[in-house]
Amino acid sequence: MAQTRGQFSSKIGFLLAAAGSAVGLGNIWGFPTQAASNGGGAFLLVYLVLAFVLAYPALMAELTIGRYARANVITALESLSEKPGLRRAGWLSGSAAVAVAIFILSFYAIVAGWMLSEFLSPLAAQLGAGATESWLDSAGFARNALVCAIMSGLTIAIIARGVEKGIEAWSTRLMPLLFAILLGLIIYVLTQAGAGRGLAAYLIPTPSQLLDPQLILSALGQAFFSLSLGVGTMLIYGSYLRDTDNLPRMGVSVTLLDTGFAFTAGLLILPAIYVADARGIAVFNDTGGLIAGPDLIFQVLPALFDTMGSAGAWVAIAFFALMSIAALTSAISLLEVPVSVCVERWKISRPRAACLSGGAIFAISLLIIWQFEALFNTVITVTTVYGQPLLGVALCVFAGWVMQRNQLLNELSKGHPEIEKTVFWKIWPFYVRFICPALILLTFVQSLR
Ligand code: PFF
Repeated sequence: MAQTRGQFSSKIGFLLAAAGSAVGLGNIWGFPTQAASNGGGAFLLVYLVLAFVLAYPALMAELTIGRYARANVITALESLSEKPGLRRAGWLSGSAAVAVAIFILSFYAIVAGWMLSEFLSPLAAQLGAGATESWLDSAGFARNALVCAIMSGLTIAIIARGVEKGIEAWSTRLMPLLFAILLGLIIYVLTQAGAGRGLAAYLIPTPSQLLDPQLILSALGQAFFSLSLGVGTMLIYGSYLRDTDNLPRMGVSVTLLDTGFAFTAGLLILPAIYVADARGIAVFNDTGGLIAGPDLIFQVLPALFDTMGSAGAWVAIAFFALMSIAALTSAISLLEVPVSVCVERWKISRPRAACLSGGAIFAISLLIIWQFEALFNTVITVTTVYGQPLLGVALCVFAGWVMQRNQLLNELSKGHPEIEKTVFWKIWPFYVRFICPALILLTFVQSLR
C-alpha cells in the first residue's frame, strides 16, 4: 500500500500545500478583523506567541501521527494501538474528524463562492456585461448555488488529480500568485490617506490589553482555525511527507508561513479600514466598535473600492481573486480528508472518490444555502467552536498518550537523526501530553460561556 500512496515530491511542494491549507479566509478575513476588534497590536502579539507556543506543538502532533501511520485519519488513529478499546477510540475520533472536515467544507465552499461572485461581478462590469453583473450582485439562491458549484467543482478537479499533480502542483502555482496580489494591494492601500492610522492601530500594542483573558482565548481559537488543526488535514498532508523530511522544521516553516501571511494580511485590512473611515464610509458601529463579520468584507471594502475611481474596480477584482484563491487551497485540503478515507478504506478510485465526496458535500452546501438562516451559523459554530477544539485535544492525546515515547522518537529521528539532543525533543513530548490538551480545553470551556 505504501507504494501506491501519493507523496509530495519536494519540500517546497509540501510547504506550499500545507501553507495553502492554513492560509485561507481565516488569515485574510478572520485574523485582521479579530485583531481590529480586539485591540490591534495586543491581539497581534498574543496571537504570534500562542501560534508558536501552543498551535505549533499541536500541528507537530498531527504531522507526526500522519507520517508514522501513513494513512487517512481514521486508519491512522486506529493503528496507533493494539488494544481494542483504543482502536475503537481511534476509529471514533477519526470518523468525527472526517465529519467535521465535511461540514467545514460545506460552509467554506459557500463563502468561497461569495468571494468568487465578488470577483466576477466587477469583472463583468468592466466587460460591459451589465445584466450578468446585477445577477451576480443579486445574492439569491440560484447565484449562491452556482458560485458554490464552481468552487466545489474546482476543488473536486484538483483533488481528483492526486497529491503530486493536484494538491502540490496547484498549491505551487496559486500560493505565489496569492502573495503577489496581497503585496500589490498593500502597496496600493498604504499610499492612500488614512492608512498610517491603521498601521499604528495594528502595530502598536496597548500593554494593558495584553493579559485580557478574552483576548488570549480569541487569539488561541484563531490560531487553531488558521493552522487547520483538529480535523486531520495536517495529519493527511503529513502522511504524504517523505521519511527524509525533517518534521519539526517543516512544522516551523508552515507555522511561520501561516502567521506571516496573517500578519501581512493585517497590513492590508487594517489600513484599508482606516482609509475607508477617512473617506467617510461607516466602519464603526454605534458603540464605537468596528463593524465586523461579513459586513466588513462585503460592504465596507467594496464601498472603499468604489471611491477609488477607475482603479477601484481593478483593486476589487484583485482583492476578491486573492480571497477566492486562498479559499480554494484551503478547500482542497478539507476535501482530501474524506477522499483519502474512500480511496484507502473502501478502495474507490481517486477521481470517483473526489466526485462522490465532493458531490455529497455540495449537496449539503445546497441544503445550507436553501435553509440559510437555520443552518449556516449553526454549522459554523458546531464545527469550529465545538468540533475543532475537542478533536484538537483528541489528536494531542493520541500523540502524547497513545503513541509510545520511543515511537515518537523513531519517527522524528528519520529526518533528523540528532533530534534527541534538541530543545524540541526536551519540551515537545511533555507539552503535547499536558499543556496542549489543558489549554485547548480551557478555550473550549470559555467558548461555552
Ligand atoms: N485554515 C483555514 C483558514 O484559515 O481559512 C481554514 C481551515 C482549512 C480550517 C482546513 C480547517 C481545515 F481543516
